[in-house]
Amino acid sequence: MRRQRLGQSSIEVSALALGTDLIGSKIEHERSFALLDFYYELGGNFLDTGNFYASWIPGCQGGESETTIGLWMKERRNRDEMVISTKLAFDYPGSPGGLSAGEIQRECEMSLRRLQTDRLDLYQAHRDDRSVPMEETMEAFDRLEKAGKIRILGASNLPLWRISEANVIARNKSWTPYSVVEQRYTYLRPRHGADFGPQIFLSDDLKDYASYYGMTLMGYSVLLRGAFIRADRELPVQFAGGDSSERLQTLSEVSQESGCTPAQAIIAWMRQSKPAVLPIIAGSQEAQLKENIDALNVTLTEAQMERLNTAGNPSLKQGWIQPK
Ligand SMILES: NC(=O)c1ccc[n+]([C@@H]2O[C@H](COP(=O)([O-])OP(=O)(O)OC[C@H]3O[C@@H](n4cnc5c(N)ncnc54)[C@H](OP(=O)(O)O)[C@@H]3O)[C@@H](O)[C@H]2O)c1
Repeated sequence: MRRQRLGQSSIEVSALALGTDLIGSKIEHERSFALLDFYYELGGNFLDTGNFYASWIPGCQGGESETTIGLWMKERRNRDEMVISTKLAFDYPGSPGGLSAGEIQRECEMSLRRLQTDRLDLYQAHRDDRSVPMEETMEAFDRLEKAGKIRILGASNLPLWRISEANVIARNKSWTPYSVVEQRYTYLRPRHGADFGPQIFLSDDLKDYASYYGMTLMGYSVLLRGAFIRADRELPVQFAGGDSSERLQTLSEVSQESGCTPAQAIIAWMRQSKPAVLPIIAGSQEAQLKENIDALNVTLTEAQMERLNTAGNPSLKQGWIQPK
């Protein structure tokens, strides 16, 4: 699998991250190992997890995903080959959540223990916490970086203005800034004002900001749980109406012309977009992962990219991102 740098760091990650929120919980232990093996054997090295995954599943406490990844890396003896992204800030049994200094320090130690490692390659704020002064949060993250417990920092589900403010503070104090942003993202555009709960959809302004500062953008829930292609899955209500039907039609045409599936066309479109967004793929079966990883062999033409970008909005021009 092709590799790329994460932010401005020397960390090299595969072109597709593997989402692991259901690993070790809904997906039981043996199947989880098989899926991790499958991704790894196809050249993947970038695992996206979180401290509270999957506490929302009955019978789970949170930490199941990290624990399973830790066991897998230990058994496969491949920790140094893998890049681990984990996150904190949502509450789960035994943890109040948030981004206070105490919580950051405690949750980092818990994640290190569950992952059976001495460092987190990418540590991300999983949501905003306005009850804590931003200086406190950024200084606590910086302490972890200086102690060698984390390598780089990311922000997930934070609005642009909060990321920008945090990074101004970090730069002024010579602390570690956020250099990766992970937001919800897919080919369809949500209706204006659509409510995603604590999740935040990647905005054009944030793309512009991240591109200016050389940050890596990551997208999650890219395939809308298969709703693009599967009769058994409904499109989330946030995407109902608007220009969705025009975009679905164009997606179908472009994928047929390119000899790929709609899922592969979405992944290729995301990677070829400017700025590029690194997709987090996920699946409960090897065949799904294979289809998604094979998207790396799809190259859309400039004309196809333009058709996809302007579908449902012909006035939208490509290349709107301001040059540096
Ligand atoms: N930062 C955040 O706040 C945040 C939030 C959500 C997710 N994430 C990360 O992103 C990862 C992925 O999230 P997601 O599960 O919402 O992603 P998704 O891509 O929307 O859905 C993945 C699911 O879609 C189905 N699928 C995948 N590939 C398919 C294919 N080629 N054909 C048909 N169906 C296919 C599978 O469902 P079945 O297994 O049911 O068949 C798979 O589990 C998570 O594991 C997590 O790491 C992060």
